[in-house]
Amino acid sequence: MHHFTYRDGALYAEDVPLAEIAASVGTPFYCYSSATLERHYTVFAGAFRGQKAQIFFSVKSNSNLAVLATIARLGAGADVVSEGELRRALAAGIPAERIVFSGVGKKAHELAFALEAGIHQFNVESEPELELLSALASARGLEAAVALRINPDVDALTHAKIATGKAENKFGISWKRAPAVYALARDLPGIQAVGVDVHIGSQLTSLAPFEEAFRRVATMVERLRAEGHAISRIDLGGGLGIPYRGDNDVPPHPDEYAAMVRRAIGHLDCEVSLEPGRFIAGNAGVLVASVIYEKQGDDRRFLIVDAAMNDLIRPTLYEAYHHILPVAEPGAASGELRYDVVGPVCETGDYLAKDRPLPPLHSGDLIAIMSAGAYGAVQASGYNTRPLVPEVLVHGHEWAVIRERPSYDDILALDKIPGWLTPS
Ligand code: LLP
Repeated sequence: MHHFTYRDGALYAEDVPLAEIAASVGTPFYCYSSATLERHYTVFAGAFRGQKAQIFFSVKSNSNLAVLATIARLGAGADVVSEGELRRALAAGIPAERIVFSGVGKKAHELAFALEAGIHQFNVESEPELELLSALASARGLEAAVALRINPDVDALTHAKIATGKAENKFGISWKRAPAVYALARDLPGIQAVGVDVHIGSQLTSLAPFEEAFRRVATMVERLRAEGHAISRIDLGGGLGIPYRGDNDVPPHPDEYAAMVRRAIGHLDCEVSLEPGRFIAGNAGVLVASVIYEKQGDDRRFLIVDAAMNDLIRPTLYEAYHHILPVAEPGAASGELRYDVVGPVCETGDYLAKDRPLPPLHSGDLIAIMSAGAYGAVQASGYNTRPLVPEVLVHGHEWAVIRERPSYDDILALDKIPGWLTPS
């Protein structure tokens, strides 16, 4: 469920016509709906009512400070993977004790910053990271609460580029070697190994791989406890998918997911951490673009729009499907044409949709690329010296630019021409 709907022939974000924002901000831009963010968070959190569960929004999916602040007000914590994301979470008002730090390659300065901030938990992914964290914590007279990320060797049945739980993936500590690493953790100063962490992938549309992984985690916790480790926390990562195609590919509801979690690990009486990203932000954002040209090829029709792969890379990188809606609602009699919807970037891989039935569209018409709230703006780049797309947040009748489009002067000022190239 989201709050982007047609009213009187125009696509609205909550109570604001997208065309009004486009007229003021220009295209392309990302637009998020506060009510949708809040609803998704509330549905997810509500599913876990009655379990000892805490939600850490995965900041990598959408790290705009205003988006984080919207969810923080509902009590969300944050799952971060860099010092930058940690600083964003803190700046958005998420207290350090509600932040977990994940990621396979945390650097010393990042671990030190997180230690000094006093975060809730470090999700550690290797022995060298554990040893570095131990050295940094003990040098500061601190104890780091640690969960070791286990690689359960489970196929998440999602796109290969976002599956993380197989033995060949770089993530986590091998399921087989984990007990030895917990033994190492016990002997290291400054480390309290209190938890087990797992994350097998993103955009999962069935519960079975989750359940298989979580049951392996449960077995691991039982074994570790038998070996004398005081394991009181389980972090289950994120990964619950969203319906990109509408009602015919509906992933499990959070209620079903939460019931499965209880089934798989409830008997262990651990504090459960959850790291949803896409579920909260995905359908809460759209990318609005304008048609530049229509172009007829030999065997296909191209719709050249002003958003491109540098703004939303998901179709190019993961063959992802994003629904596209014209901002002006098509009439019943308008008919449909099949378009390749492409951007101006000089790459054949620059497309947003292929062979997509849409009503006839013309230069200047606005389209909304749906379900772009997660892994959209955060994965944008300035390729082809295209300014990063601005972001807008709608809240009922109100809206605000929550990240400005940089000017060309801003962009060029980041580069420096060294002295030997400057005429004296
Ligand atoms: N926790 C960890 C440790 C993760 O690595 C991720 C996502 C999450 C939580 C959140 O997963 P979610 O609930 O959003 O599925 N750029 C890709 C997705 C990459 C996901 C990376 N990790 C895409 O656009 O599909």
